[in-house]
Order: sequence, then structure tokens, then C-alpha cells
Amino acid sequence: MAKVITNANQKGGVGKSTTTINLARAAAVQGKRVLVVDFDAQGNATSAIVRDPLERDEMGEIVQITVADAIMPRATVTLEEVVVPSIWDGIDLVPSGTPLAAVEEMIIPAQAREFKLANVLKPLLPNYDLVLIDSPPSLGQLTVNALTASEQVLVVTQPQQWSADGMAELAKTVTNVQTYFNQKLTYVGVLVNMWQGTTEERATKRNKQVLADIEEYFVEAPLLRPFIPFRTHIGEAVDEGIGLDQWKTVPMRMIAEDYATHVNTIMAG
Ligand SMILES: Nc1ncnc2c1ncn2[C@@H]1O[C@H](COP(=O)(O)OP(=O)(O)O)[C@@H](O)[C@H]1O
Ligand SMILES: [Mg+2]
Repeated sequence: MAKVITNANQKGGVGKSTTTINLARAAAVQGKRVLVVDFDAQGNATSAIVRDPLERDEMGEIVQITVADAIMPRATVTLEEVVVPSIWDGIDLVPSGTPLAAVEEMIIPAQAREFKLANVLKPLLPNYDLVLIDSPPSLGQLTVNALTASEQVLVVTQPQQWSADGMAELAKTVTNVQTYFNQKLTYVGVLVNMWQGTTEERATKRNKQVLADIEEYFVEAPLLRPFIPFRTHIGEAVDEGIGLDQWKTVPMRMIAEDYATHVNTIMAG
């Protein structure tokens, strides 16, 4: 039975999609069967790892079935029918794109709207070891659906972007989901992405303060180590469809090991 994880943060640009892809890759390299569920209308995870580009009409609109088709009211499409191969062995993808934005509006008045993703995902769980849901930069109905479908939430943050207020909002959403929709939801922890500088000991005063704030703020969510450093090659690797483990330089391949450590933490939790 798959372990289901949502990468969350309502801020855009902190590295949710990048983390999703690198964790998926690290898990697949370990021989795990992975499903990436792109649950963001921006479709960044989809463009990064989809093997065959989504079919579009002459206006450029997506015509291929995506996750939106499986969760819309009166859907006739199963999530299994939406699944496509990724560029990497061992990783399947539930693709997404702009249709998801419209469907988010459509499911708002629907019955049991919070359970749409959980319900359609359930039949697929026996096929995988790990399901990673890449959530959108908001705390709306899609993120609530992702959290309702998950066993654990991984908070992805950037030291520069950290704000206690933002985390309070996210924590409130998690508590809400735990209370009403998914009692078993817990935190994996907080993954610090785009860490600038060398070691934790030699961090800037500001970064040290951020780390202390995170530790103090999230009692139920441990600060995960190692931090993922800021490296432009991480973005490049995603753009080029190259796993960090396949990258030409040793320091980058070591970051693949860091992601593998996080996969181990996830699987052990
Ligand atoms: N550790 C990192 N070092 C350097 N750039 C990164 C890192 N993680 C993510 N990025 C870049 O930051 C941008 C935002 O990342 P993304 O994963 O799309 O964030 P989100 O999904 O939270 O919006 C992308 O251009 C990505 O390549
Ligand atoms: Mg994203």
C-alpha cells in the first residue's frame, strides 16, 4: 500500500514541485514504485517529467484527460485512466494543467468536495510504494483535497520566505483537515530548501533565527536535515529532465543522496 505525501506551502516558488520531482526520482532509484500526482493547475511537475507532451488543440488548450477530469462533478474518468508514464522508470504521473483551475471552482459546491482526490486515488494505492502530491500555492479546496488524501504532509520552505504568519495559516488548514476530514494526517516535518551558505553552524544570524523559529513554531513537525542547498543546477536538472544522481558533478550527486535521506525519513514515518 502506498504511502501518500503532500508537499505543501501556500507560497509559490519555495520549491514544492522541485522537491516532488527530486524525492520521486530518489525513491525510484531505490527501486520504489512512485506515483507523482500533479495537483497544481500550473502543471510544473507535469512539464518537468511527463514523457510525452500533453495533447493540445490548435489554440494550445489541453485536450488530453488530466487529474481535473477525474475529480470533476459526475466524472466518468478514473484516475487510473489519467495516469501516464514519466521520463523515468518507476515513476508514473497523474498530469495536470489549466483545466484544474476551472474544476476547483466546480467542486466547491459539490457534496463531499474535500474527498474528491482521496476517493479517486484509493484504487491506485496498491500499485505504488509512494504517492507524492504536488500541491498548488494556495490553501484552497485543492490543497484541502490533497491533505485529505494524504497520510503525511511535508512542509517545504525557504529560509528567506519563512514567515510565522504564513505557517500559522498552513497549520490551521492542516488542523482543520485533521479535525473534519482526515484524522490520521500527520507531518513528516519541515524541509528547508534553497539553503544559502555552508553549514548550519556558520549560517547567517538571520538564517539561524529562521531555523530556531521553525523548531519553536512546529512542535509536531520536526526540522528535517539535511537542508537542500540553493544550487541553480537543481533547477537546470529539472528543466533538462536529468536526475541529480545522473548529474556530471559530484556535489550535485551528493544532493541526490540528501533527497534519498528524506525519502527514507518519509518511508519510515
Ligand atoms: N534548491 C534550489 N536551488 C536553486 N533553485 C531552486 C531550488 N529549488 C527550487 N529552485 C527553483 O526555484 C523555482 C521555484 O521552484 P518550484 O519547485 O517551482 O517552487 P513551487 O513549486 O513551490 O512554486 C524554480 O525555478 C526552481 O528551479
Ligand atoms: Mg509548484
